[in-house]
Amino acid sequence: MKAIEWLDDRVRILDQTQLPGKEAYLELNRHQDIASAIKALKIRGAPAIGVAGAYAVALGALKIKTTSKAEFLKDLRNIIQTIAATRPTARNLPRALERMQQTAEAVKDVEQVKKALVTKAIAIHSEEAAATLKLSKLGSELIKDGFTVLTHCNTGPLATAGYGTALGVIIQAHEQGKKLKVLATETRPLLQGARLTAWELKEAGIPFTLITDSMAGYFMSKGEIDCVIVGADRIALNGDTANKIGTYTLAVLAKENNIPFYVAAPLTTVDPALASGAEIPIELRSPDEVTHIQGVSIAPEGIEALNPAFDVTPHPYITAIITEGGIIRQPFEEGIKNIFTNKSNSEIQKQG
Ligand code: MRU
Repeated sequence: MKAIEWLDDRVRILDQTQLPGKEAYLELNRHQDIASAIKALKIRGAPAIGVAGAYAVALGALKIKTTSKAEFLKDLRNIIQTIAATRPTARNLPRALERMQQTAEAVKDVEQVKKALVTKAIAIHSEEAAATLKLSKLGSELIKDGFTVLTHCNTGPLATAGYGTALGVIIQAHEQGKKLKVLATETRPLLQGARLTAWELKEAGIPFTLITDSMAGYFMSKGEIDCVIVGADRIALNGDTANKIGTYTLAVLAKENNIPFYVAAPLTTVDPALASGAEIPIELRSPDEVTHIQGVSIAPEGIEALNPAFDVTPHPYITAIITEGGIIRQPFEEGIKNIFTNKSNSEIQKQG
C-alpha cells in the first residue's frame, strides 16, 4: 500500500476518503487535481500533503510551455499559490513548496528546471519517509512492554507517505516484540481514527480497541492508559503544537491523570519562525462535516455548526516531542533551537 506514488508524468494516490470500504487509487496529472485531492482529504496528514504538494508543483511545471525563465517563474508562482491555498495548518506543505520554489530559482535553463523540480519532489518524498522511520525508532524507547497507548487521528503510513509519526512509533515498538494495546479515538468529525487508524492497526496486527473521542477521560481516570501519543501539523518554537481537533482535550486530561503526553513529528513540521501556537493558522472546514457523517445528515436541517479542523496544545501539557533529530523535553524552545543549530538538521530547513 502506498499513499502516494510518482509515476513520471502523473501521481497515483490512494483515495483515503474511500477507506476502509474500498482501496481505490486515483491517477492525477494536473496540479489543480492534486490541489482538489488535498482539500477533499483524499490525501491527508501533514507529511503526506507536503509530498503531494511537491509532486503537484513538479507536474504543473512540466506543463508550462514557455522557454523564458522569467515567464516560467511567474507561472510557477501561480501553481504554488493554488497548492498553498488548499490547507493552511500543516507546516510541511508550505515548507515543501518553499523548497520547490528555491530549486526553480537556482537553475537557469527552463528544461533543466523542470528536471530539477521532479528530482526535488522525489527527494522530498524520500526524506520525509526516512525522517518518519528514524523518529519512530527513536520514539519507540518511550513505549514500554505491556503499555496501553492512546492515540488520536491517523498518523501512520497513510498520513505520512512514509512510516508514520505517532502510529509509526507504535508500529516500531510492536515490531520490536513489545506487547502493546492501543486505544484509538474515532476522531470526529471525519473519523480518521475509526476509518484509517483502525485499518492500519488491523493490517499491522497490533491489538487495538476503538473508542469515541469522549470516552478518553473515562479510560484515563480508570488508570487504563500508560501514555498518549499523537502527531502534529505544526509545532511552534516554544513547543505549542497544532494537531487534529480534540488533541488539546486529550492533553489536558492526560495531565490531570498524570499520564505522559507525547508528540511525534518530523522536523519539517516544526516552524521555528513562530514564537508560539497563537500564530498557527487554524483551518476552518465546512460545517457539513459536522452535521453529516459520510454524507448522511445527523442534525436538523439549516442549523449552525462550527468545524475547526485543528487545535493548539500549549507546550506545558506536552511531556516530550519526538523528532528524527532527537527526543526533545522541556524547555522545548532550547531543545528546538539546539536541534536546528545542529548542522545536519539545519540543512533540512535551509536546503533548497
Ligand atoms: O485533517 P487531517 O486528517 O490531515 O489531520 C491529520 C492530523 O491531524 C495528524 O495527526 C497530523 O497530520 C500529524 S501526523 C501525520
